[in-house]
Amino acid sequence: MRPKHVTLVEVGPRDGLQNEAAPVTAAEKVELVRRLQDAGCREIEVTSFVSPKWVPQMADAAQVMAAIERRPGVRYSVLTPNLKGLEAALATRPDEVVVFGAASEAFSRRNINCSIAESIERFAPVVEAAHAAGVKVRGAVSCALGCPYQGEVTPDEVERVVVLMKAIGVDHVGIADTIGVGTPLAVQRAVERALKHYPLVEVSGHFHDTYGQALANILACLELGLHCFDTSVAGLGGCPYAKGATGNVATEDVVYMLHGMGIETGLNLDALVDAGAYISGVIGRPPASRAARALLARRAAAATAS
Ligand code: HMG
Ligand code: MG
Repeated sequence: MRPKHVTLVEVGPRDGLQNEAAPVTAAEKVELVRRLQDAGCREIEVTSFVSPKWVPQMADAAQVMAAIERRPGVRYSVLTPNLKGLEAALATRPDEVVVFGAASEAFSRRNINCSIAESIERFAPVVEAAHAAGVKVRGAVSCALGCPYQGEVTPDEVERVVVLMKAIGVDHVGIADTIGVGTPLAVQRAVERALKHYPLVEVSGHFHDTYGQALANILACLELGLHCFDTSVAGLGGCPYAKGATGNVATEDVVYMLHGMGIETGLNLDALVDAGAYISGVIGRPPASRAARALLARRAAAATAS
């Protein structure tokens, strides 16, 4: 069942930087994308076309999309919560757009200011217009393992949103542990609900690492045959509407684990560590990735010894 190749969607430029207190310039975001491409990233979530009043860090979405170097074979995705966001996004030629709903009513209201049912009504024309433009649509199911406002979230609640997304034509669903509370068997139960409605190739996992469970959760998904995960270089990330939640699972940690298991990712770990060190320097914090810190320490020790 375990896959031989795993696709990692690098969400550092979007999920990673949307929550940063210090401003990161458009030029620095573009440089991060360039370095990620150098490290072999072939799926990059670049930015969000959301309200700048809600998420000021993503206000430069169009500028960043216009400035990144497009390389053949690389797919660029962006978040679009409504038609206004989609229209602005389409002008920048994304390969994929992401609508983001939630398995909990409370989080839906806090994050996108509407109920789950209203969010689906909003997403339906977004999906239709994206498809008319030949653009694939991914749907994120936030708070699939727990909600900062509601608390426990059941697999039934996850399945309900998956079914609603399927009904409006969303092509792919991502099961998201927004606050990183899930543990492996609970993650399997949530993912299995998505797999009732979508094929393996159209389901992915998005795990924040707040409680240190993300790698174990990815391993649990691999056991189900899942082979696509969102990860964030240097473990950057968080959601402004999920206070206290830390970053996504670090790309470097996931690559270290997968390569150690003989599973291909197409990514170069050393170059990823460089990209993570670059953005960590910009935001003035060491990488959260344990693998990156270990490799940087090894490099420093080797430099001192020579
Ligand atoms: P609203 O206030 O209900 O929207 O917000 P509205 O339609 O009433 O519009 C209010 C104002 O926003 C208007 O401007 C609109 O023009 C503007 P005003 O007339 O006041 O000057 N506006 C927009 N501007 C730019 N782009 C847009 C847009 N839409 C409206 N697309 C809305 C509703 C959805 C817009 C708002 O709640 C919002 O932007 N939320 C985004 C929150 C967000 O980005 N959260 C983080 C991403 S999700 C995430 O991190 C989870 C994920 O990683 C998975 C996981 O971990 O769970 C994906
Ligand atoms: Mg997230």
